[in-house]
Amino acid sequence: MTHALKQDEIGERNWQRLISLAELEPGSVKLVRVTGKQIAVFNTPDGIRACDNRCPHEGYPLSEGSLSPDCVLTCNWHNWKFNLNTGDNLLGGDRLRTYPLELRGDEVWVDITDLPYQQRYTAVIDSLHDAFDDYSYDRIAREIARLVRLGADPFDVLRLAIDWSWQKMEFGWTHAYAGMADWITLYQENRRNEELKLVCLVESV
Ligand code: FES
Repeated sequence: MTHALKQDEIGERNWQRLISLAELEPGSVKLVRVTGKQIAVFNTPDGIRACDNRCPHEGYPLSEGSLSPDCVLTCNWHNWKFNLNTGDNLLGGDRLRTYPLELRGDEVWVDITDLPYQQRYTAVIDSLHDAFDDYSYDRIAREIARLVRLGADPFDVLRLAIDWSWQKMEFGWTHAYAGMADWITLYQENRRNEELKLVCLVESV
C-alpha cells in the first residue's frame, strides 16, 4: 500500500491517522480532514487509495467524483481523469496529489509529508513547460499561482517564458513581450495586492 518515497530526500515523515477500516466499506469513499488538509480516501478493488479532495483544475470535491473499476477517478465537474494509483493526469492537465498509506492494525495512516522544495519547484517548472507547449493559459495561471505559493522567485516564470519563446520570434512577436515591462512595473507598485500581482505575472507571459 505504501508509495515509494526516498526517505533521505524527505527527512522526518509526517504520518497521521486517517480512518479505520471499519469506516470504509469496499467501494466506498470518505472525505477526511487531516491537519487542515481535505483528503479523499477510497476503498478500491486495488486497495485503499487517498488523494487531495480538491480537483487540481478548479477545486471540485473529488470525493464526489466517479471511480472506475480500474482505478481511474473522474472529476464530475469538467471530466478530468486521473490515475488514482499514481496521480497521473489522463485527461485534462495538472497532476493530482496522491498520498502514501500504511495499514496499522485496523487503521489506515497517511503520510502527508511535503516533498522537498527543489522537487516541488521542478515539478511546477516542468508543468509550466507543458502548459506553454499546449498554449494552455488557464494551466499556466494555475502553475504560476503554485510557484508563488511555493515561495519561489515569481519572475522565474518570466525567464522561463522568454527562454521558451525567443527561438520562435522569427514567426512573429506576441503582445506579451511588448507589455511585460509595464506589467512588471504594475506588479512592483502593488506589492501588497496578491491577486493583482498574480494577474500581472499571468499577463506578462
Ligand atoms: S474542477 Fe475538476 S475537472 Fe474541473
